[in-house]
Amino acid sequence: MAESRIAVIGATGAVGAVTLRLLRERGYENVRAFASARSSGKTLEGGIVVEEATPEALAAGDIDLALFSVGTSASLELVPHVVRGGAVAIDKSSAYRLEPGIPLVVPEVNGASALANDGIVANPNCCTIPLACVLKPLHDAAGLKRVRVSTYQSVSGAGAQRMEQLRAEPQEQHNLAMDWSWDGDETDEESKIRAEAQKILELPDLPISATTVRVPVLVGHAEAVWVELDDALTAAQATEILSRAPSVRVVDVPTPGDAAKTDQVLVGRIRPDRAGENGLVLFLACDNLVKGAALNAIQIAELMLGGAVSDTRSVIRQSAAAVPPVRS
Ligand SMILES: NC(=O)c1ccc[n+]([C@@H]2O[C@H](COP(=O)([O-])OP(=O)(O)OC[C@H]3O[C@@H](n4cnc5c(N)ncnc54)[C@H](OP(=O)(O)O)[C@@H]3O)[C@@H](O)[C@H]2O)c1
Repeated sequence: MAESRIAVIGATGAVGAVTLRLLRERGYENVRAFASARSSGKTLEGGIVVEEATPEALAAGDIDLALFSVGTSASLELVPHVVRGGAVAIDKSSAYRLEPGIPLVVPEVNGASALANDGIVANPNCCTIPLACVLKPLHDAAGLKRVRVSTYQSVSGAGAQRMEQLRAEPQEQHNLAMDWSWDGDETDEESKIRAEAQKILELPDLPISATTVRVPVLVGHAEAVWVELDDALTAAQATEILSRAPSVRVVDVPTPGDAAKTDQVLVGRIRPDRAGENGLVLFLACDNLVKGAALNAIQIAELMLGGAVSDTRSVIRQSAAAVPPVRS
């Protein structure tokens, strides 16, 4: 992938800035930055100058891989153009996540599915990614029967502007919020977590109930998770299983502060669920901008492209058996 021509679309945003930093740290040099006309010509960290993401620029045929973090409506408008130009798009909005035939990928969980794409791969929601990393090994060991989750999501999940608002806000005005759209009696964030986890885990009937809450924290999402299993698993057994899981680190008490700027999902407080049979409770924290967004997308790209990339489309159609391990 080192020689790939990479475009970061949404480069001036919260996720885009982290994407550019991670690409730089991983040694990628052939990187261009795109955003809206508002940011065109702006110079970002590392000296990279922002280009306007017009349909013509994206479809010009000089991009191999396009990492999108622009929001759902802009993704719906722009992603088809870059794909038309021959690139593979990895999209972090919810535009394509539940579309049949479009892979929704957490490399540690269902990485092989990324290879069966027609130019678009979807990156899951920032709460679904860490949740799937933790649920998958527990499911493999004991079978998931039911999942309940309550989230504590940082303001960076709502973008760079909201981070600035929190920084400027007097502390006494800090509050919780449920600032998502409503989907019946749930927030759309709650229904996304359910539908996306079911798709990624390939468990379409798994009952999942979520309550999503925004907290006055800048970076890092946390989740309390209650799982009911088919077979009994002690807390010690679950701890052992999770300590071997890729991209997961078991700690005593995971916090957003400790998770910030790390690549891993921190998991702890693993204990029996005193209110359920074959139940466990755990707490996780993850940097929503890193593993919850930018890093997961880069790992998808690395998994598909495996180091080379002159003919992106042919590389991504390799057999699923060729999937290399995830680099964290
Ligand atoms: N934040 C997270 O934790 C997180 C996690 C997972 C997924 N996501 C998803 O990633 C996307 C971006 O999130 P964010 O938090 O980075 O938002 P953000 O900080 O508000 O950044 C949005 C970016 O999109 C660009 N943009 C907006 N409309 C555009 C258009 N029509 N054409 C080209 N560029 C456009 C903006 O450019 P200008 O600066 O020029 O306006 C900016 O670079 C969203 O779909 C979000 O759901 C976010």
